Amino acid sequence: MSETITAMASPNIALVKYWGKRGDGSLNLPNNSSVSFTLSENILNTKTSVAVAPDLKEDAIYINGELQPKDQKNEKTTFISKIIEEMRKNAGFSDNLLVVSNNSFPTGSGLASSASGASALVFALNEFLGLKLDSKELSIIARRISGSACRSMAGGFVYWKKGELDDGSDSYAEQIAPQSHWDVVDMIGIVNESRKKVSSSQGHSATTKTSVLYKSRPEYAEKNADLVVDAVRNRNFAALAEVVMRDSNNMHATMLDTWPPIRYLNDMSWDIIEAVHDLNGKNGESIAAYTFDAGPNAHVITTAQHANEVREMLSEVMGEGSRILEAPVGSGPKLLSEKDSLITGEFLKNI
Ligand code: DP6
Repeated sequence: MSETITAMASPNIALVKYWGKRGDGSLNLPNNSSVSFTLSENILNTKTSVAVAPDLKEDAIYINGELQPKDQKNEKTTFISKIIEEMRKNAGFSDNLLVVSNNSFPTGSGLASSASGASALVFALNEFLGLKLDSKELSIIARRISGSACRSMAGGFVYWKKGELDDGSDSYAEQIAPQSHWDVVDMIGIVNESRKKVSSSQGHSATTKTSVLYKSRPEYAEKNADLVVDAVRNRNFAALAEVVMRDSNNMHATMLDTWPPIRYLNDMSWDIIEAVHDLNGKNGESIAAYTFDAGPNAHVITTAQHANEVREMLSEVMGEGSRILEAPVGSGPKLLSEKDSLITGEFLKNI
């Protein structure tokens, strides 16, 4: 076993959304299948290093330089600790671990830091502990940390099968087309970098429990997932675009119909929605598609051919000083070399 292992993973953007969990919610099993593409690790990434920490009394997890508290209130970190514990046990390993993880983008900004964080961690641990789990098993572990994270365990275009079983063993993500298949780009308009008010975990549960509209969503989204798989396979952007926009709108409608209502979009998000429809109208067919996760930031999907027009449209709507990231399709998680380790002498001196 080598001394430190470092992995890098990136977020994914859902073209058909996961919103609402089946069962008691604890395994992050979705009510519908979803489809995404993994974003380029050159634009957005999480790097995670793992090392043995024999001097520590318990595992220590640092995210963006901060030691994560082990209190029950912090559900996500409690869960990360449980997964580490489980993977360590499976490997028959007993030492405490030091895990250091840094995001290249703001945590909790609606840019899916939990997806890239969980997939980088699971990928690094598998290697560090010598578990040799296959991509299906890794996807299932990542899913249990954060549902959408299972889609970041693969690169390119990815389908997360809803599955039927209560134990979740048939609910995992698989690549449907590689990174090189299609030159689509996610043009991300950063509308707001602050933490979201209602976490996605709270939102999933509130919407399924209280929204009347939500009752029709699982069947609709399942069909959308099939349509998007076909559109991706055939590189049919106009077909893809309509389903992507409608699916995002449908999910946000169920959020608004939640009681008390949840609103993730703001006025700027809406200005972007309208501008995309105007641009598509002018072109006579869709060259851009917006989609929004649990936050106001706009993901405008287009192809490399139309990237300039879409970038211009976005900067015009968002005004001066606007931040726009441009993420092509990414390759999925990978190991980095020892020289990229976040556990440096300098880091150890300061903890
Ligand atoms: C709106 O994966 O963050 O981004 O499983 O509770 O961690 P948990 O939820 P999470 O939900 C993501 C919701 C979404 C849509 C999507 O990415 O499919």
